[in-house]
Amino acid sequence: MRENNYTLEMKNIHKSFGGIHALIDVSLELRHGEILGLVGDNAAGKSTLMKILTGAYQANRGRIFFEGREVHITNPRVSRQVGIEMVYQDFELCPNLNVPANLFLGREITGNFFKALKNRQMENKAVEILGRLKIDIKNSKIKANRLSGGQQQALAIGKAVSFNPKVVIMDEPTASLAVMEIEKVIDLILRFKEQGISIILVTHRLDDIFKVSDRIFVLKHGRRVDVKETSQTNKDEIIKLMF
Ligand SMILES: Nc1ncnc2c1ncn2[C@@H]1O[C@H](COP(=O)(O)OP(=O)(O)OP(=O)(O)O)[C@@H](O)[C@H]1O
Ligand SMILES: [Mg+2]
Repeated sequence: MRENNYTLEMKNIHKSFGGIHALIDVSLELRHGEILGLVGDNAAGKSTLMKILTGAYQANRGRIFFEGREVHITNPRVSRQVGIEMVYQDFELCPNLNVPANLFLGREITGNFFKALKNRQMENKAVEILGRLKIDIKNSKIKANRLSGGQQQALAIGKAVSFNPKVVIMDEPTASLAVMEIEKVIDLILRFKEQGISIILVTHRLDDIFKVSDRIFVLKHGRRVDVKETSQTNKDEIIKLMF
């Protein structure tokens, strides 16, 4: 057991696909309760690095420590057990299911109750989760495809939170949203942080990163270029590091 103030540490990660070196000796540290912006040009390796955390890919070399203890994230189930959740850009919601059904898909509340009673339980739990995050969805019986883009993103985030993660990874959470909705999703990200969850935010939108992040991590051609305290850098500097 190593004592430090990191929730998560990736050490000397290498990943190649055939002859392509997607990640070369990348080390990343995530502090307790911080929002870390992860930036880099297309093909820099951002998604690959995150997919190693979610168990979608295995690194060729390198080690991962969670709260000081080494973990072997061999598949997505292990990642979730460790306490890592990822919110994907395409939300991964089922358009024809309502809000509670989306939240509890694959882990419906079971027991020897009548179906109606179980539905009621899931509805109450859904209202509680949405309320905790102050997510504004008036009618939880509404189907996901009737929600706005921002509400869908909020629901996807709510779903991630419902697993009680310690780390949430968001890949381009505001990419497809209108300006008004971006503000709401950013509020939501900040509320997450208030709950002590550490966040890795992957996005091309530097404005968003500067609004919410504590530090900014720059990847370029598969290598860690630098990590900056957000308060001690600016957009020009980050852009120079990226390209
Ligand atoms: N499954 C795969 N098979 C082969 N090559 C891959 C695979 N996944 C990623 N790569 C390659 O690894 C490199 C890094 O890709 P990655 O998707 O991690 O970049 P990124 O920083 O997320 O880019 P973007 O901003 O476009 O999302 C690229 O050269 C990409 O083509
Ligand atoms: Mg990507």
